[in-house]
Amino acid sequence: MNRDLRKTVIAGNWKMNSLPSETGAFADALLPLIPGFEKWCEVVICAPFVMLPSAVLAFGDTGVKVGAQNVSQHAQGAYTGEVSAAQLCDSHTQYVIIGHSERREYYGETDKTVNEKTLAALKTSLIPIVCVGETLEQRENGVTFDLVAMQTKIALKGVSKEELSRIVIAYEPVWAIGTGKTATPEDAGEVCKAIREVISGLYGKASADGVSILYGGSMNDKNARDLLAQPDIDGGLIGGASLKPEAFAVIVNAANQ
Ligand code: 13P
Repeated sequence: MNRDLRKTVIAGNWKMNSLPSETGAFADALLPLIPGFEKWCEVVICAPFVMLPSAVLAFGDTGVKVGAQNVSQHAQGAYTGEVSAAQLCDSHTQYVIIGHSERREYYGETDKTVNEKTLAALKTSLIPIVCVGETLEQRENGVTFDLVAMQTKIALKGVSKEELSRIVIAYEPVWAIGTGKTATPEDAGEVCKAIREVISGLYGKASADGVSILYGGSMNDKNARDLLAQPDIDGGLIGGASLKPEAFAVIVNAANQ
């Protein structure tokens, strides 16, 4: 992390877990464990669409932000089952995860749709958390840096310098998601640094230095401190461990370093 240059973000991705009726109890359990968090990081809970109202209600004005896990690339219209960026904003959602590997793998999202969704989110006040990351096969074939560079460049196509300042990137190696296998802090830090260099090539060093780049993939209460100590890792996108208030609180507090 480098808090002089950019914000630290600890974001939970609940995926398709938990129930709307359980959100209040989660907030009640988490909040007393993270006193003063706003001094060192932004805390975000990315919940399923149907749980956004209960999450907004539960976190109220506590400073914890609420995010969605997907958004349509279209502004409005005949897109049954989809949710627009304007609808998310109007529901007091402040962040949105875009291009998570599970969406790419199971729902046919591509670098092109990730770019379109990023641009759609940026037309509103939403803060996109754009996910990139390699599969095990790609890592073993030595193309990790090429792959994340390509994903990053396409995701940012048409994004202005001003809009870039609102974007968060999440580096999530697919092989580390939900597997208990974490990238070493050094490996994760190196890829995050490479992503920053790609952004620097596109927008200049000053702009790239301002972008928060998160690590995701089996980040938990045991490994968070070491991962967050890397200068180019500016936070975490946390799946499993974000469902447990105690573990998630340890990660939030680990960002206070
Ligand atoms: P896990 O923390 O469960 O590995 O999930 C990571 C992730 O996909 C966050 O978006």
